[in-house]
Amino acid sequence: MDAITLLKHDHRKVDELLKEASALGSGAAASRQKLFKQIDEELTVHSKIEETIFYPALKAKAKAEKEEDAKQEVLEAYEEHGNVAAMLKKLEATEPKDETYAAKLQVLSELVKHHVHEEEHEMFKQAKDLFDKAELEELGQRLERAKSEQKAVAAR
Ligand SMILES: [Fe+2]
Ligand SMILES: [Fe+2]
Repeated sequence: MDAITLLKHDHRKVDELLKEASALGSGAAASRQKLFKQIDEELTVHSKIEETIFYPALKAKAKAEKEEDAKQEVLEAYEEHGNVAAMLKKLEATEPKDETYAAKLQVLSELVKHHVHEEEHEMFKQAKDLFDKAELEELGQRLERAKSEQKAVAAR
């Protein structure tokens, strides 16, 4: 699978999980907890493989091709990951029945939605211009391997 298809699959999975979680009320504490664990894991693994493989590869390519916009897009994405990670930490520390839980979940969803939109509508388009098909395929394989490794770590 090429890198962009793989990353988009991850995005759709997180969209689904966030949608499910936002439909739960404060009475569904156990389900909120369970879904949050999944969301946390999906987002953490996804961010990690982007940060360690996809972003550095794109940044290096953008630099080599003097594509300043693409490089800036990558730098922005790292910052957005930081905001998402901070929100995940806050949610982790919040009881599912707390009155701020839904608000925090909503903010997390908005951060993720904005970030995913930037990736799919800006960054991935730049990546398609900068990498050829074989390179995207090779990056996809590396992402897939890293994903299995990260999932194994998360399951420990
Ligand atoms: Fe992503
Ligand atoms: Fe990302």
